[in-house]
Amino acid sequence: MSLPKQVRLVEVGPRDGLQNEQQPISVADKVRLVDDLSAAGLSYIEVGSFVSPKWVPQMAGSAEVFAQIQRKAGVTYAALTPNMKGLEAAIEAGVKEVAVFGAASEAFSQKNINCSIAESLARFAPLMEAAREQDIRVRGYVSCVLGCPYEGEVAPAKVAEVARELYAMGCYEVSLGDTIGTGTPGKTRTLFDMVAREVPRERLAGHFHDTYGQALANIYASLLEGIAVFDSSVAGLGGCPYAKGASGNVASEDVLYMFNGLDIATGIDLDNDRRRPAHQPAAGAGQRFAGRPRQAGRLAAPILLNPIRRAAIYRTTRHRQNNK
Ligand code: HMG
Ligand code: MG
Repeated sequence: MSLPKQVRLVEVGPRDGLQNEQQPISVADKVRLVDDLSAAGLSYIEVGSFVSPKWVPQMAGSAEVFAQIQRKAGVTYAALTPNMKGLEAAIEAGVKEVAVFGAASEAFSQKNINCSIAESLARFAPLMEAAREQDIRVRGYVSCVLGCPYEGEVAPAKVAEVARELYAMGCYEVSLGDTIGTGTPGKTRTLFDMVAREVPRERLAGHFHDTYGQALANIYASLLEGIAVFDSSVAGLGGCPYAKGASGNVASEDVLYMFNGLDIATGIDLDNDRRRPAHQPAAGAGQRFAGRPRQAGRLAAPILLNPIRRAAIYRTTRHRQNNK
């Protein structure tokens, strides 16, 4: 199968990226991160979650974040909602797109959202209906698609079953989450091949955590399966508090760099800055960062430097705290 000419990126940094951080992050910092990401050209940003603050303290304040971000035309600002209470809070905050999140592993479902897979799907049903009435689009997640921190191996058939249920109840897209990053390219291909028998490929997305450095390879494997929507997180931040040991998501800047190299359109202008010698100031949007020291390694786009730097600071602080 030939590679798609174009892909769509879902930036999950402010949600998946920050939900797992140890130290408190202010609403102002979250707002700045979201605004920087939209300024960088990302057109879909997961801003936060309307979940219990007892379960995920970092996502408390999502309503304030939604109230303070500068909404840019053409950008989708989405939130996670696990139940009706979450949807109601999201509606109150003016959110126009939400995501429900289920799992292909019973144990993970219990740990993450305190109910079985069947119960979670039953909870989503009224949410879907209420969202439809309010013209709110709903995306669906299936977690643990390539392994579970509690159960180990997860059968692709189980993933296909949960994905089919989410799609049937009205999720316009289902993102398959390798929550703990144990997937490898061969398994990824098999998974999408199986799930695509239940949900059209163009309605599937890939969400890869990078615990074993497999995320980019898994994205490439997904491309070969005709998948053209990918979730990523600026600076590779991320993790789920209920999936111990999982590292961050695949880094948005690395994903952009790979798609650029493959001549696959992302809609994000990398400003061609990588081809310029390090001492030369960037043109256009990159100009803002001229004169700042350039990071030789993983920086893909000067236009993304601001959010990357901030996120990297969060990450450094987290590592320091974890290592205390
Ligand atoms: P529960 O304790 O079973 O809920 O939690 P409950 O209905 O019994 O209510 C208990 C308390 O929570 C009550 O408050 C409710 O009001 C409150 P209390 O009376 O004790 O003061 N409550 C809520 N508060 C705010 N917002 C809500 C809400 N619902 C109930 N929406 C619940 C069930 C789902 C709420 C809980 O388990 C929860 O919040 N879990 C969130 C888990 C989470 O956010 N995980 C991370 C996101 S998933 C992820 O990262 C994976 C993904 O990235 C893909 C991948 O990588 O695989 C998407
Ligand atoms: Mg995730």
